[in-house]
Amino acid sequence: MTQIQHFCTYPQSEVVHQADVLLLNWEIVDHFDIQIVISQIKKMLKMSGVDDLVASKLLTTASELTWNMIKYAKGGTLSCYGRMDTQKSAIILTACDQGKGIADLALALKDQYSTGNTLGLGLPSVKRMMDYFEIKTSIKGTFVFVLLWVDVLIDALKQNAKVVEQLALTPIPKVKLGL
Ligand SMILES: Nc1ncnc2c1ncn2[C@@H]1O[C@H](COP(=O)(O)OP(=O)(O)OP(=O)(O)O)[C@@H](O)[C@H]1O
Ligand SMILES: [Mg+2]
Repeated sequence: MTQIQHFCTYPQSEVVHQADVLLLNWEIVDHFDIQIVISQIKKMLKMSGVDDLVASKLLTTASELTWNMIKYAKGGTLSCYGRMDTQKSAIILTACDQGKGIADLALALKDQYSTGNTLGLGLPSVKRMMDYFEIKTSIKGTFVFVLLWVDVLIDALKQNAKVVEQLALTPIPKVKLGL
């Protein structure tokens, strides 16, 4: 948490609450990181019993925000938090970078606007899919905050995020070749 706030240009205090639980966090450098992000979030959501449609919205969002940081900001930080409610939780994703920022935010949020010669559908689609979307951008960087309610308890998310993190730290055992 301290590390992210240090890295992030924008103070997260207004949107990321003190009680939100940091589940998983990645330093994004290149496109290889997208695979890691997606597989870890997927594992955590599946193990926690999150509905498939909800899970694919979150995975698409994570992928779009991560791609944008790679394409337009030479990387950044993607974080996944859990927010508690009585019977459900919200999953929060934040993408924070120190790139040049988005020159025209209103245009960037319109379908088919792209400075990268791609479809220009990433940000507007993310905004449509999520329950809450907020973006702050300046010449010092960009901060995107999204939230989606899910029908699982925060404890399941916390527990499974820990398992996913431990699995990532476990070295893949060397296979002994019978040669
Ligand atoms: N993190 C960022 N930093 C700077 N500019 C950004 C960032 N994210 C998006 N943009 C700008 O906003 C525009 C719209 O982003 P969006 O994700 O909607 O489309 P795209 O990345 O161009 O295309 P697609 O996501 O469909 O491949 C981008 O073309 C780029 O100019
Ligand atoms: Mg994009």
